[in-house]
Amino acid sequence: MKLFDVYPLINVTPERAKGVFIWDTEGRKYLDLYGGHAVISVGHSHPHFLTAIREQLEKMAFYSNSVKIPIQIELAKKLGDLSGLPDYQLFLANSGAEANENALKLASFATGKAGVIAFKGAFHGRTSGAVAITDNPKICAPFNAGHQVYFEESGDLEGVEKTLKTGEIAAIIIEPIQGVNGIQVASSEFLTGLARLCKQYGAKLILDEVQAGYGRTGRFFAHQWTSGLNPDLITVAKGMGNGFPIGGVLIHPDIKPGYGMLGTTFGGNQLACAAGLAVLEIIASERLMQNAIHLGTFLIHALKNVLPEITEVRGKGLMIGFDTRQEAGNYRADLIHKHHIFTGSAAGKHTIRLLPPLCIQQKELQSFIESLKLTLTERETVQ
Ligand SMILES: Cc1ncc(COP(=O)(O)O)c(C=O)c1O
Repeated sequence: MKLFDVYPLINVTPERAKGVFIWDTEGRKYLDLYGGHAVISVGHSHPHFLTAIREQLEKMAFYSNSVKIPIQIELAKKLGDLSGLPDYQLFLANSGAEANENALKLASFATGKAGVIAFKGAFHGRTSGAVAITDNPKICAPFNAGHQVYFEESGDLEGVEKTLKTGEIAAIIIEPIQGVNGIQVASSEFLTGLARLCKQYGAKLILDEVQAGYGRTGRFFAHQWTSGLNPDLITVAKGMGNGFPIGGVLIHPDIKPGYGMLGTTFGGNQLACAAGLAVLEIIASERLMQNAIHLGTFLIHALKNVLPEITEVRGKGLMIGFDTRQEAGNYRADLIHKHHIFTGSAAGKHTIRLLPPLCIQQKELQSFIESLKLTLTERETVQ
């Protein structure tokens, strides 16, 4: 059987990884500044993460959500403490799209409405509702197009209010920092305005923290840089499992559960929870949020001031995007094949995304800056 060929591949075959480095089958060492789409949070193959999974696996890997699973409660407690949201409730899922799908469903149950406001440039996943609220018609099949979705301009509170006035809106969903769209940071003023409008019109506010959350920006959630924001629903995945598939929805205490309302076979299984718990323990014990803001600030500064070929730098902590004068594809190819550095693309052709593991150190970023300078100047000279 052949694989269903939907992914354009980089010509590298990773074989093993440790911390911020990856080795390929030829033994070449790469610096990972992308973490496989922002997934690697505490570092590849972290010893505590490996031990936690191994020990859980030796006890048992899986039983469904029809029995008591104490490690879920442990995970929820740790997540509540570390995120500063101990009163929220946790529903466990397997991926970011599934987390968003469940958040939309909860908002719709709670309001009795079906409409959703999302934003231009948004990416929320590829399942039915999640892809419908993603601003990319190319990945939305006719089957997905039946949802009641309104795409507004980010920053346009007036437009949002006009749509809310239709009385059909269950939820507003927003990435506090748009990832796939090239690291576009929503302003605090806009987020606060959305929260106010949601209250006024009885809609639920969903913060999609799948990419920006889990300490990446230096606060546990990126929206926590805006004070006083209490979203109704927050979705997480990616960094939550450091490569082990797990996702979740954090649910405001005002939203009440009911048996059968949501469900999943795999979500919250023992093995995934062991991975998720270990990730939280490492984030806390290694002070990775502090590292993210400290080194993110260093990197943003270096990109802004050292490199005139870069036209714009955006981001917070270790969630960074920058634009290059020429298209970024050639630079990224040079970075991976000549300098052995993984970086990420974005929707815009001139953007490079950096989403390194949160344990990265200054010397690694310094070596990236040197390689980037060489890459940019070589290509500029070729032109
Ligand atoms: C902000 C955001 N939400 C949701 C998703 C979907 O997550 P998953 O691929 O785990 O379904 C992504 C994936 O890139 C994302 O960046």
